[in-house]
Amino acid sequence: MERLKELESQVLVIFGASGDLTSRKLLPEIFNLFRKGYIPDNYAIIGIGRSDYSDQSYREKAIINNPFFKKKEKRAKEIKEFSNWVHYLALDTSNGPSYVALKKKLQIILPGNPDPNVIFYLSTPPILYKPITNFLAAHDLNVEKSGWKRMIIEKPFGYDLETAKNLNQNLLLRFKEEQIYRIDHYLGKETVQNLMVTRFSNSIFEPLWNRNYIQRVEITAAESVGVGNRGGYYDGAGALRDMIQNHLLQLLSLVAMEPPNQMTSEAIRNEKNKLFQSLRPLSSQDVINNVIRGQYTSANVRDKQILGYREENGVLANSRTETFAAMKFFIDNWRWADVPFYIRTGKRLPTRVSEVVIHFKPNHLQLFKNEGSDHAQNILVFRIQPNEGVLLKFGLKVPGAGNKVKYVNMDFQYDDLTQDYVPDAYERLILDCMQGDSTLYARGDSVENSWKFIDPILKVWQDNPKIPIYGYPAGTWGPEHINGLIEGKNMAWRNASSNLSHDGEYCEL
Ligand code: BG6
Repeated sequence: MERLKELESQVLVIFGASGDLTSRKLLPEIFNLFRKGYIPDNYAIIGIGRSDYSDQSYREKAIINNPFFKKKEKRAKEIKEFSNWVHYLALDTSNGPSYVALKKKLQIILPGNPDPNVIFYLSTPPILYKPITNFLAAHDLNVEKSGWKRMIIEKPFGYDLETAKNLNQNLLLRFKEEQIYRIDHYLGKETVQNLMVTRFSNSIFEPLWNRNYIQRVEITAAESVGVGNRGGYYDGAGALRDMIQNHLLQLLSLVAMEPPNQMTSEAIRNEKNKLFQSLRPLSSQDVINNVIRGQYTSANVRDKQILGYREENGVLANSRTETFAAMKFFIDNWRWADVPFYIRTGKRLPTRVSEVVIHFKPNHLQLFKNEGSDHAQNILVFRIQPNEGVLLKFGLKVPGAGNKVKYVNMDFQYDDLTQDYVPDAYERLILDCMQGDSTLYARGDSVENSWKFIDPILKVWQDNPKIPIYGYPAGTWGPEHINGLIEGKNMAWRNASSNLSHDGEYCEL
């Protein structure tokens, strides 16, 4: 892989160094960057946490004995070399004076460079975002003299519109928008980036990409796992906040936005923001009719008894948090007027699959309809994961007498394009931030506009406890009430199998 841009020397400061994300994703993905030669010679990582570690004991725990580093035996030498870049600082993030130690450490960590370029990575509970930014600023660690200062912030970015605005305002008092990188790991997925490339690098799709040819658009993010050990967090969030407000609306913006006039971060993010502004607000009645929520109940799946959501650790026994949400909505602009969009996500569904499905309108005159043909239409599927690829379904004649039409799959799989593995989202996103490219990060105005769309749903649910939350047995595709959202003859949600090329032949259970 070629180096995209010469990387400047820099320091990465990770707040939340003992946390799950740091050991599961951040350090292993930075190690991948190191193996590919993307890490500049003058580089350091400072892990910050409350626990007491020396540099060496932190290296042992977070790098050398970290189970999320792959092929550890084979790569032992590289892992050891990588670990030498990693340092640790015990610091109470809610105590202002303790940041003096961080300032001092930054001044000496890169020899001969007392004002290094720094990325501050906030991988802490969101309650700490404000104090950390404030204390960094109080110690001038936001000031860019010779070295730049950037900040990556993990989700959740706010709990609703008001808290998101509040957080933005506070951040913008201390850091400039150009310094802030709001991470949404869906934007780092190769297949998500491919949406824009497929749309804007081919001449055959864009002419069809509008209300004249597209009947409806479906976005699904199904997960087979439950909430696991994250019940405490999840019970206060729910599927709408956890997946739709951020990941799935970001996906939607790439599917539906207008072409940017150039490939710059600002141009692309301007178009995305326009799209968020065009989402038709949902009235209370729309929420009642067009948004369905559900919660998984215990069931036997593949000979295994699965707990219901309310029995999970950290979840209230009478919880009304949704683990499933599906909705229908519209985008009020010229391109998409009256085209319904459908989003669906849930935990404990039959399989793990995320995809975007573009359903094209049927022919005006169906010449072969009396020949026992499929009642299908052309669809284009962007398979985000797993089995990443693109699938086009179109009608072909079945050999033999008559003109019976069968809809067949033409598919492309990412595995065919590269011998290399498809990089993880974090690998790509961290590299982008190291280079100062914020294209794949969410801009403050877009985050607020997506909350503006989601907020009324939360409010209607909160104000009307009688709106049902449907139970669905673990291992099923969610409450059957969602079938009513898609109105039209022979139309239904697409229940994909996790294997793209065998798609349509079976559906896993
Ligand atoms: C996270 C959510 O942001 O995304 C999780 O908090 C969810 O609940 C996860 O499981 C899904 O990410 P991915 O990459 O596995 O689709």
